[in-house]
Amino acid sequence: MSTAAIHAGWRADDMHGALTPPVYASTAYAHEDHASLKDLFARRSSGYAYSRSGNPTTAVLEQRMAALEGGTGAIAVASGQAATTIALCALLAPGSHVVASQLLYGGTTEFLGDTLADLGVTCTVVDPWDLGAWERAITPATRAVLVESIANPGAQLVDLPAISALAHARDVPVVVDATLAGPALHRPGEHGADVVVHSATKHLCGHGTTLGGVIVDTGSFDPRRCPDRWPRLTTPNARFGVTFADEYDRGGSGLLAYARSKYVTDFGAALPAASAQQILVGIETLDLRMRKISADAAALAGRLHGSEGVVRVDHPTIPGRPDAHLAERDFPRGTGGVFSIDLAGSEEAAAAFCDALELFTLAVNIGDARSLVCHPATTTHCHLSETQRRACGVGPGTVRLSIGLEDLEDLSADLERGLAAARAVTGPLAGADPVVAVRG
Ligand SMILES: Cc1ncc(COP(=O)(O)O)c(C=O)c1O
Repeated sequence: MSTAAIHAGWRADDMHGALTPPVYASTAYAHEDHASLKDLFARRSSGYAYSRSGNPTTAVLEQRMAALEGGTGAIAVASGQAATTIALCALLAPGSHVVASQLLYGGTTEFLGDTLADLGVTCTVVDPWDLGAWERAITPATRAVLVESIANPGAQLVDLPAISALAHARDVPVVVDATLAGPALHRPGEHGADVVVHSATKHLCGHGTTLGGVIVDTGSFDPRRCPDRWPRLTTPNARFGVTFADEYDRGGSGLLAYARSKYVTDFGAALPAASAQQILVGIETLDLRMRKISADAAALAGRLHGSEGVVRVDHPTIPGRPDAHLAERDFPRGTGGVFSIDLAGSEEAAAAFCDALELFTLAVNIGDARSLVCHPATTTHCHLSETQRRACGVGPGTVRLSIGLEDLEDLSADLERGLAAARAVTGPLAGADPVVAVRG
């Protein structure tokens, strides 16, 4: 993993021997003659024509992410939201159905319930820890199952091998949003996922500088197994003149080629070359960063658990968490740097806590080098209904923490400062109620 993070996709053999992949800041690419550009557009050759459909710097990121995830290929797009949108649009069609975990980033929940509904796709949301619910929710119209491997904001883990087995038994591909884990902690393809999406904005970039997203094909989804389910992949495409699923035999991916040709191009969701380069630099230290933030997050979660005024800590290491065995089995390198706490005294206490912090910055991002804090109910999850928020484990007193690379003791002291401020608005409180993650 550490070696691929530095080397995959790039050798210093360009004309100047650049060690780090250069930024190809070019919109279009010159071609020697008419035949060369004609062949490219007719898909008889490969290369670059226009950066909305492909760029050499972005291609390095794509190859590196495919290597890190052990996939057959990857496409980089403008944001994590674009990655989820495009991956699902490539699998779903009007009249089809998706089954999704209820523990998802708020923007994904909004996309599923609003924009996908506009496109004629229905969605059933299930408790990811209830395997029977997954089984019952899959119908003949289901074309994708969607989960986060570590859920935002409560760091809940899913039994991916079990969910994948249920979905695959019904020939439904599994899409995993692996943003909070990143390939340093967990490679979903090794646990049954067919498609992996990332918000590269978070840990992959790692320094809060750049928006980006990645879609990886792990190589296990072959639409030709049930050709009638995926006619857009398994029959000749009138617009592009190819049958995308045929690419499967050439070691590529019908799904990614389709997604890039159609959706990245039509939605215009290309990743700028400069962004790809920032993300590539970030990935070089991904392994080191993920180890430190995972260890520090677990230590801080342990200290917060039982603190006066904290009614719940949502982290897999907290006693009683039903996913503790999954942490041990599937996440031996840690469960990342994002988790949430619930404060007694509701939003008023959460506001006092956030405002008193000096080191944690109040900002709606995660996976930065800096530690960040936010109040999901009024920000990332504010467009959801009360019921949807509860299902995501987000209440009025919930605060999300994203642990950065600062010194553990400084972070701990800052959280103590926040708790003191929260207690000042709620008055004296009993000890913590060791409530575990919200269910249902
Ligand atoms: C788990 C998860 N997936 C997807 C996204 C969307 O990513 P982006 O902001 O890069 O569009 C986020 C953003 O917070 C996220 O937390």
